[in-house]
Amino acid sequence: MNNILVTGGCGFIGSNFVRVCLERCPEVRLVNLDKLTYAGNLANLADIEGDRRYRFVRGDIGDAALVGDLFREERIDTVVHFAAESHVDRSIDGPAEFIRTNIVGTFTLLEAARHAWLTNSSLSAQHSARFLHVSTDEVYGSLGETGLFTETTPYDPRSPYSASKAASDHLVSAYHHTYGLPTLITNCSNNYGPYHFPEKLIPLVINNALNGRELPVYGDGRNVRDWLFVEDHCRAILAVLRQGRVGETYNVGGNNEKQNIEIVEAICDLLDAKAGPLPSGEPRRSLIRFVKDRPGHDRRYAIDAGKIKAELGWEPAVTFAEGIVRTVDWYLQHREWVEQVTSGAYRDYYERQYGGR
Ligand code: NAD
Ligand code: TYD
Repeated sequence: MNNILVTGGCGFIGSNFVRVCLERCPEVRLVNLDKLTYAGNLANLADIEGDRRYRFVRGDIGDAALVGDLFREERIDTVVHFAAESHVDRSIDGPAEFIRTNIVGTFTLLEAARHAWLTNSSLSAQHSARFLHVSTDEVYGSLGETGLFTETTPYDPRSPYSASKAASDHLVSAYHHTYGLPTLITNCSNNYGPYHFPEKLIPLVINNALNGRELPVYGDGRNVRDWLFVEDHCRAILAVLRQGRVGETYNVGGNNEKQNIEIVEAICDLLDAKAGPLPSGEPRRSLIRFVKDRPGHDRRYAIDAGKIKAELGWEPAVTFAEGIVRTVDWYLQHREWVEQVTSGAYRDYYERQYGGR
């Protein structure tokens, strides 16, 4: 692992990963290819812009010429592929971009890696090359009250987002089996933490609750997600890069199942304690509104992370109690970041998504 191409490094998990990777791996050089969609923000990495081991390139993973040039110029031997359209609600609204970026974009990257590593014999590092594809537990579908997703759970994606991620996972596996591309796949549960874009549940609720706005909870609020602090996910990715077996999939999870309503109430209580009650004197729980459910809303996700623990010794280090306090504190201390990313286009999105709900 010398010359890493990170895709989508200006997004939520990607920017956390870039920071963790540069901190923990002094020997690497890192190129961040990001299109800077609404979800990508240069401010997420402002503190490392001047690092000589880091280069930012604005571009689309679907641009074959650009990606091919980067592999050659930068002698890329490792890919950590985050770039994606990542929000389920947006995929319901407009799936086309999910097909373009998540499926066709991943295909373009795989082709570039295949040409650079498997047909260009001048690259001496090809035997140690790695293509790590960052994916989601949502490819496995929806669980009932019991059971956990393992690496052998059959795929059953149910939203345009999860279907596009499932397709990209299958392409990555196919490139390993057909061409011998040295791939790794991680399927992770819901992340939370700093730099999370406020369209997703936790940052949206923090932002609205701080500003005294309604807190939209879909359906009965009893859908369950398995929450993992983002830095733990980044450590898992590093462990898989360093010691994962080529061609394998590793599930990554927080061992931390919560109903949505529990999450929303916990955030309200934390903000009341830290920022005081609303100007009306009411507690923030009074802002909770149950709204029309998301179409096809998956009921429950839960990960069995036994394989990555047994093989690589990884497990979550941050409890939910600690992680949610760190997250709320970060949002309290970075109100200008939230204002910047929620100006302009975000307002139109919010009105479309929640206006008539
Ligand atoms: P995000 O939406 O916050 O960031 C996505 C980044 O990709 C942005 O910086 C965006 O500008 C960039 N991007 C989008 N299209 C691009 C393109 N065509 N070319 C180049 N860059 C492009 O997403 P995230 O939450 O950080 O998720 C990162 C990855 O992790 C995704 O692949 C997602 O499926 C996966 N994942 C996310 C979670 C989660 O809870 N957020 C959980 C498991 C897996
Ligand atoms: P989200 O953060 O969008 O992640 P995902 O759908 O990928 O799991 O949503 C997490 C859960 O919170 C999911 O069950 C949908 C629910 N949710 C709400 O109840 N209200 C909201 O405004 C949002 C964005 C999500």
